[in-house]
Amino acid sequence: MAKKPSRQFVCRNCGTAYPKWVGQCEACGEWNTLEEETVEPLAASTASGSAKGRRIKLEGLDGIAKPPPRIETTIAEFDRVLGGGLVPASVVLVGGDPGIGKSTLLLQAACRLAGNGERVLYISGEEAVDQIRLRALRLGVGTTKLDLAASINVADIVSTLEAETDVKAVIIDSIQTMWLETVASAPGTVSQVRACAFELIRLAKRRGFSLILVGHVTKEGALAGPRVLEHMVDAVMYFEGDRGHQFRILRAAKNRFGATDEIGVFAMTDRGLEEVSNPSALFLAERRGNIAGSAVFAGLEGTRPVLLEVQALLSPKSGDGAPRRAVVGWDTGRLSMLLAVLETRCGLKLSGMDVYLNFAGGLKVAEPAADLAVAAALISAASGVPTSSGEVYFGEVGLSGEVRQVAQADARLKEAAKLGFDQATLPRRVARGTVRNKPPEGLALRELGHLSDLIGADMDAE
Ligand SMILES: Nc1ncnc2c1ncn2[C@@H]1O[C@H](COP(=O)(O)OP(=O)(O)OP(=O)(O)O)[C@@H](O)[C@H]1O
Ligand SMILES: [Mg+2]
Ligand SMILES: [Zn+2]
Repeated sequence: MAKKPSRQFVCRNCGTAYPKWVGQCEACGEWNTLEEETVEPLAASTASGSAKGRRIKLEGLDGIAKPPPRIETTIAEFDRVLGGGLVPASVVLVGGDPGIGKSTLLLQAACRLAGNGERVLYISGEEAVDQIRLRALRLGVGTTKLDLAASINVADIVSTLEAETDVKAVIIDSIQTMWLETVASAPGTVSQVRACAFELIRLAKRRGFSLILVGHVTKEGALAGPRVLEHMVDAVMYFEGDRGHQFRILRAAKNRFGATDEIGVFAMTDRGLEEVSNPSALFLAERRGNIAGSAVFAGLEGTRPVLLEVQALLSPKSGDGAPRRAVVGWDTGRLSMLLAVLETRCGLKLSGMDVYLNFAGGLKVAEPAADLAVAAALISAASGVPTSSGEVYFGEVGLSGEVRQVAQADARLKEAAKLGFDQATLPRRVARGTVRNKPPEGLALRELGHLSDLIGADMDAE
């Protein structure tokens, strides 16, 4: 018995389906995100369960497991985030704001792969072949053997790929422009994005090539199109950065084949994206010494130490109501906690002040280890005394003001010494805590047990 196609409404943000239109999505709380779509009924046989499936083979957990093979793009910053390179038959979604450099990154990666002798297809639904050629010329990769096509028709793309052999990687720029005739809605809608992704992913799995999908990001920072897209792929990466800055950071939000805490750092130049193998130097390049309210944090991004400048600005509270807490690159809740600890445990009066905090360079810091550096910046801003320009800070601060150990102190100290810093403020070694090696040559350690030690020391430093 064949049923008529029915209609339903799907949230663009989270993919929840409703039989009727509603103004607000109950699942994610967004307003006006529902889109109408047509649902094709499942073939009667599968729906009723009458078709007989084949029996699947069950296996033990203790069998032989090989790590997946990798195709290195040989762009080290990209390979690192991928977890060592592209995995055949896997799917990566690369999201990012408009104009941030997604097409540039992927064209460079595609050309590098093609230059290394791999068969790569770059399919653009956004740009004409000529435009891509011009970009390649500008990036200085114009002579590489890369197969280009401009198309939005997924059926055509699938037929083309079926006829090709030896394809190692396919780039689709972007999934929101792709279109399947059998789905009755416009490109970019939930139903189209989902159906197109499904077709392309199925093909990638069957033919064994790596598929890279470009995705646009909405103003809220989520990938446009439903969240379901994130579940369908093996890895989700975000290409981030501030358009006003040169730095671009590639970060994995999900990776079935690697860690998600590695970042790739690039600089956008007129010749395209350049790899930044020493991010600390880049992040500290614009630092000016001897300004109150600034401190250098010895942080960790994945396995890599990164030094960053944190800046704090205090000004007397403007207007009635609560004072302002404006934060860029850090967690607002964490700042409130730190302000409360400084006030209650260390006697620093900050409640009448508006507080602005900024991690320079556009990197978002998530480590609690940044507490001590933020505290140092706040104390310096409150006292007007600059922190020593040769000093780095790291350590977590607890609610009673105690300074706590953080992971990988040695790696942080080494990076600080490498960049010419001569002093580090860090948590005091606990008796039987982690064994710390001898500090690197030329680096003096200042070990703290409580945050109030920092106030005394830094304010008297003059
Ligand atoms: N002629 C040029 N010279 C220098 N930089 C350029 C030039 N053209 C583009 N760019 C840089 O490249 C960026 C655009 O990169 P790209 O097209 O890769 O971004 P995208 O993320 O793919 O954008 P979209 O979302 O529009 O597809 C620009 O913002 C600019 O910084
Ligand atoms: Mg693009
Ligand atoms: Zn929703």
